[in-house]
Amino acid sequence: MSELTNEHSRSANATDERQRGGHVSSAPLLHVDDVDAGYGDVPALRGLTVTVAEGETLAVIGANGAGKSTLLKTIAGVLRPTRGEVRFDGRVVTALSAHQRVGSGISLCPEGRRLFPSLTVEENLQVGAYARRPGPWDLPAVYELFPLVAERRARPAANLSGGEQQAVAIGRSLMANPRLLLLDEVSLGLAPVIVRQLYAALPRITEQGTTVLVVEQDVHQAISVADRVQCLLEGRTVLEGAADRIDPAELAAAYFGVRR
Ligand SMILES: Nc1ncnc2c1ncn2[C@@H]1O[C@H](COP(=O)(O)OP(=O)(O)O)[C@@H](O)[C@H]1O
Ligand SMILES: [Mg+2]
Repeated sequence: MSELTNEHSRSANATDERQRGGHVSSAPLLHVDDVDAGYGDVPALRGLTVTVAEGETLAVIGANGAGKSTLLKTIAGVLRPTRGEVRFDGRVVTALSAHQRVGSGISLCPEGRRLFPSLTVEENLQVGAYARRPGPWDLPAVYELFPLVAERRARPAANLSGGEQQAVAIGRSLMANPRLLLLDEVSLGLAPVIVRQLYAALPRITEQGTTVLVVEQDVHQAISVADRVQCLLEGRTVLEGAADRIDPAELAAAYFGVRR
């Protein structure tokens, strides 16, 4: 049934070393603490706090312009906050470069995929391994997760469909063996059936112990994969809660900024 994703063949026995180590920390893996960020005079995040526990999947949702991509850029070190701190695994990483953050285990799959169009699929995947940490993800593992990507490995990325390109982009971010995977609008511009196939890969990623923060405009898709949901409006949190307990009407109102 699933063309993009191989849902069956990988077992859970490659459980991440960190999980087996039995290290239980009360601090969240990620703590974005009271952050302001923006672009010149344009504020995008206003005193925003986001926490994600190790092993958890958080969906951050919100309308276009809510600040979702700015949040991920701030966590990945592409953008520096003007106030507040980003802590990862108990350490302040606000001053670290994006490259250093990849090395410490933060990997961003950016909005719009950002592949190198003239490089082959395999070369694009290898780009993701430049600050590679030890772990389960390498070329064979990514090809097993996305069999269609394996078939396209020698083709220029530009020749792939949008869904295939998104699979390559996710694969590239996995190649770093992140502890925290940041996924920015996987669904952007893709047909619902393709979006479902891509999200079907997520349990296979989280079973490795990887913590995931997904950003989506597609609320239903986000809620279906997440443990917890946080809704942003104009750079602030307007609603948060457990994904299986959030009230759809309340969420819709928060999403569109409707006072109830
Ligand atoms: N490169 C940029 N330069 C100036 N303003 C920007 C830039 N990127 C985003 N913004 C503004 O920052 C706010 C948040 O944008 P963004 O984080 O991209 O939202 P989202 O990802 O939720 O759609 C918006 O008002 C947007 O117009
Ligand atoms: Mg965005």
